[in-house]
Amino acid sequence: MTSKDMVDNAARESKSNDTEREMIEIELLLEGIHRLYGYDFRNYALPSIKRRIYYHAQSENVSTVSGLQEKVLHDRSAFDRLVQSLSIPVTEMFRDPELFLKFRQKIIPILRTYPYIRIWHAGCSTGEEVYSMAILLHEEGLYDKARIYATDMNNLSLQQAKEGVYGIDRMKLYTKNYLESGGTQSFSEYYTAKYDSVMFHPFLRKNIIFAEHNLATDRSFNEFNIIFCRNVMIYFNDELRNHVHGLFYDSLSHFGVLVLGAKESIHFTDYSDSYEPLDRLEKIYRKIK
Ligand SMILES: C[S@@+](CC[C@H](N)C(=O)[O-])C[C@H]1O[C@@H](n2cnc3c(N)ncnc32)[C@H](O)[C@@H]1O
Repeated sequence: MTSKDMVDNAARESKSNDTEREMIEIELLLEGIHRLYGYDFRNYALPSIKRRIYYHAQSENVSTVSGLQEKVLHDRSAFDRLVQSLSIPVTEMFRDPELFLKFRQKIIPILRTYPYIRIWHAGCSTGEEVYSMAILLHEEGLYDKARIYATDMNNLSLQQAKEGVYGIDRMKLYTKNYLESGGTQSFSEYYTAKYDSVMFHPFLRKNIIFAEHNLATDRSFNEFNIIFCRNVMIYFNDELRNHVHGLFYDSLSHFGVLVLGAKESIHFTDYSDSYEPLDRLEKIYRKIK
């Protein structure tokens, strides 16, 4: 073996030790959080949760994941901050307007035939998706017979969702999305502007129940005609994704409709044969068995 080979081998070994150490630290952190606080991030997709944890460690001024673990296990507020970082509450009103348009065209006629409608928005974040649904049902004359359950594991996001107050700078995009989604009114009729924020009208909240619910650890709590779970399961590994699909399957009525995010699919899960696509492109599926 040449001295260059020896140097290369040593570098490889040190790199693999670093990776091993990294994995141990992350697993211990997530295990500790689960045991102490009951939040289960152990089956989140590794690349993205790892990236988030390292990024968050920097903002907490700790140089290692073990340092972060010590802080989080000894200080509830440090844990709460970590949950915010891991939660990724990015959302918008009428996000993917084409989906809402297809929902109006294909699903609303079905809902008209029901005596009442139960909808679950799982992972609703700060509520923009839920208010979009409330507006859509209102315009279709179906709001009064609907109950919308809006859940998330992130309590801070839920508080904002309950208030329905958003930055005025978002309204240009939301108005554009609303119009592209088939909106029939003037979008500004749905909110009142004050300084740099807007508040959505309380009548839209009348039939919405906001509640904390963790898809990794909590059970099914009702039977629904429609479940929206968009841009949540992309952060999960296959095992957790399957678990959550089991939860949705158990929570949907026969012929209930499941709506996933643009980058998500029912394929490659244990439940792919239990649904038929109502709109393949927009990820709208109907439970058939
Ligand atoms: C990117 S947002 C998606 C919001 C909205 N559905 C949308 O598509 O615009 C992801 C949300 O999923 C929530 N989330 C992540 N893991 C969760 C879990 N285990 N249980 C419930 N909500 C979760 C996060 O807190 C966050 O609010």
